Amino acid sequence: MTRKTHTGLTLQDLRNDVIGIDTMVPLLDGSERSYVFLDNGASTPTFGKVMDCIRSFLPWYSGVHRGTGFKSVVATEIFDRTHEVVARFVGADVKRNMVVFTKNTTECVNKLSNRWGFGPADVVITTGMEHHSNDLPWRKNAKVVHVGIMPDGSLDLEGLQDAIRRHKGNLRVVAVSGASNITGICQPIHRIAEWAHEADAAIFVDAAQLAPHRRIDMRPDDDPGHIDFLALSAHKMYAPFGIGVLVGPIDFFEQGEPDMVGGGVVDVVTLDEVIWKHAPHKDEAGSPNVVGAVALAESIAILESVGMETIREHERALLEYACTRLRKIEGVTLYGPTSDFAGRVGVIPFTVDGMHHALVAAILSAEGGIGVRNGFFCAQPYVKKLLGISKEQELDAGCGVGDGDRSGTPGMVRASLGCYSNEADLDAFIAMVDRIVRGDYKGTYRQDPVSGSFLPEGFEPDLSKYFPFFDSVVPAKNRTYSEAS
Ligand code: ALA
Repeated sequence: MTRKTHTGLTLQDLRNDVIGIDTMVPLLDGSERSYVFLDNGASTPTFGKVMDCIRSFLPWYSGVHRGTGFKSVVATEIFDRTHEVVARFVGADVKRNMVVFTKNTTECVNKLSNRWGFGPADVVITTGMEHHSNDLPWRKNAKVVHVGIMPDGSLDLEGLQDAIRRHKGNLRVVAVSGASNITGICQPIHRIAEWAHEADAAIFVDAAQLAPHRRIDMRPDDDPGHIDFLALSAHKMYAPFGIGVLVGPIDFFEQGEPDMVGGGVVDVVTLDEVIWKHAPHKDEAGSPNVVGAVALAESIAILESVGMETIREHERALLEYACTRLRKIEGVTLYGPTSDFAGRVGVIPFTVDGMHHALVAAILSAEGGIGVRNGFFCAQPYVKKLLGISKEQELDAGCGVGDGDRSGTPGMVRASLGCYSNEADLDAFIAMVDRIVRGDYKGTYRQDPVSGSFLPEGFEPDLSKYFPFFDSVVPAKNRTYSEAS
């Protein structure tokens, strides 16, 4: 495989190269428009260059760390090097730290929590603004202390510092998101790292929402503000081929037993004994996702060519543009700080007065061709807090607990930006929000009480027209839009 380096790519080059940037989608009125993709916080599309890279790698695709054939040798070398590419992208001190590939950030946090070996008194501090994946895996294995949120949705940093001091002795990990998937607020991760280290604890940063938008520097291990552990997901970084990344100290992974065992993790097995391989192999059980790793490394090369600072400034300007205009629409409530745009990645959470969040999202899609996400975004405590749902109400809060009726489930609508987003995307989105607020939409929408989602009456586009796979591989001839939704 010839490794091309990318030089001097621009943001416009990236946009032109996004696969699906001009995909036409059906609208309720029978017309079509090119899809406006504002759900990058969930998953990003990929680039043509990433696909080209995969295509040039595939002739060399073969089992890694196992085969003796030449293709295995080549594939193994490439796969091993992708670990280094990712480690350098996040500024890891590669002499003492390494990358373990998983399938996503959720698996990374579960692995880290399972591998830690917590004792009964051990404490993990996390925050009230985390994605469930940076909260529940810790609750499974340790005592978890949640630090609170300020009225504007930012983290209570004084409360965090105080909690770290109070739990010194039992505190093992401070687990924070680098950027919130709801408000986009970025945490001062190096300052928090210093506080954690002063208390002889480690810091873990969930960088799933940070890595696509900001340059990350884990810093050398002897820097008091260095990041001990970090996780990210390639599907949010323009390489959606099922790979996640956990970065941490080699010593940590050399200790103890892997949480998942099987092939690839052992040097010796007898019927009574097992000798584990060295890290990272002992934590990458089974045949690894080599194609996913190649795609991620290529995507990193593309992003680095444009420059993470360029991406940061572009997204800041877009966020400010969108929030400034949305704020002027009466009936729209925005969440999160609305002045410090530099301290947030491009996520715009909002509600429309008197309208269900799922209805707003359904109209955006069916009448605007705009893809957003609505609901809790896998961060229920944070969204409930931002919406002012009381502690007494929060356990049920219409979430379908008991009777399965989710029609009253609270939530928000979220538009989230990618590096390729532009003002035209936001203009289409803001114009549609403005129409929705004014009641200027055409459809009659019915809510499905089981899912809580809304569907427009009479909107039955034939999915097989858009992707023939439905007919050739999944021959459900009568499969309709509403059944798929
Ligand atoms: N964590 C992803 C999101 O926020 C899936 O949508």
